[in-house]
Amino acid sequence: MFDFTIDGRNVSVKEGTTILEAARSAGLHIPTLCYLKNVSSIGSCRLCVVEVEGTAGLVSSCNTLVKPGMVVHTNSDAITAARRTALQLIIADHGLNTTQYCFSCPKNGSCELQDRCRELGVETTPFDVKPAGGPILDSNPFIAFNPALCIRCQRCVGACNNAAGNHTLITGRRGVRTSILAPFGEDWKSTNCESCGNCAGACPTGAITMKRRRQYRSWEIQRVRTTCPHCATGC
Ligand code: FES
Repeated sequence: MFDFTIDGRNVSVKEGTTILEAARSAGLHIPTLCYLKNVSSIGSCRLCVVEVEGTAGLVSSCNTLVKPGMVVHTNSDAITAARRTALQLIIADHGLNTTQYCFSCPKNGSCELQDRCRELGVETTPFDVKPAGGPILDSNPFIAFNPALCIRCQRCVGACNNAAGNHTLITGRRGVRTSILAPFGEDWKSTNCESCGNCAGACPTGAITMKRRRQYRSWEIQRVRTTCPHCATGC
């Protein structure tokens, strides 16, 4: 254990703790989007940025380890401005300037991108970005992928690799044109995909969704604890 300072508080953490984990255990809120506990911490969305005294620029808290004596600030005008800019870039890529998906999106009301926009007061974007898009893949009877709604956070890839251990869902291309190669097209039967749905569960937007026999909104249903029907183990 060692001490560091976050928002003026002295906090003790174990070696190997990230700034985000330390902040959460101290009851502090830092917004995140691409981070998913034990699944993905690629640090791409930049919503979780914080200031570390003595470090130039802002650092992503989800994948930066706390060091002894570190002094961290999670809130300032510069941090809020950076988070808002990051979000504006993401929603531009999400097609908010060119299309109106939210009303018909199956994730409307339970979308983490909507939640972060509301939290940070972002309603529109000044950036004129042509969304990557691509054909909707929905040959798989259980899961569909709409690349126009994908924000390329890669949580689905982390879920497929680290949660399901399937390694079927991967990324293609690089940089700003990184795309998710989801196995839900016509050749879905020839892939290793077991339609477990971990990717849909990890997706923060409506890009990867489970097909439902009945359409509903999240507030119309009740979440209950049950046994996963994916395999015979019943864990
Ligand atoms: Fe840390 Fe996305 S949550 S960079």
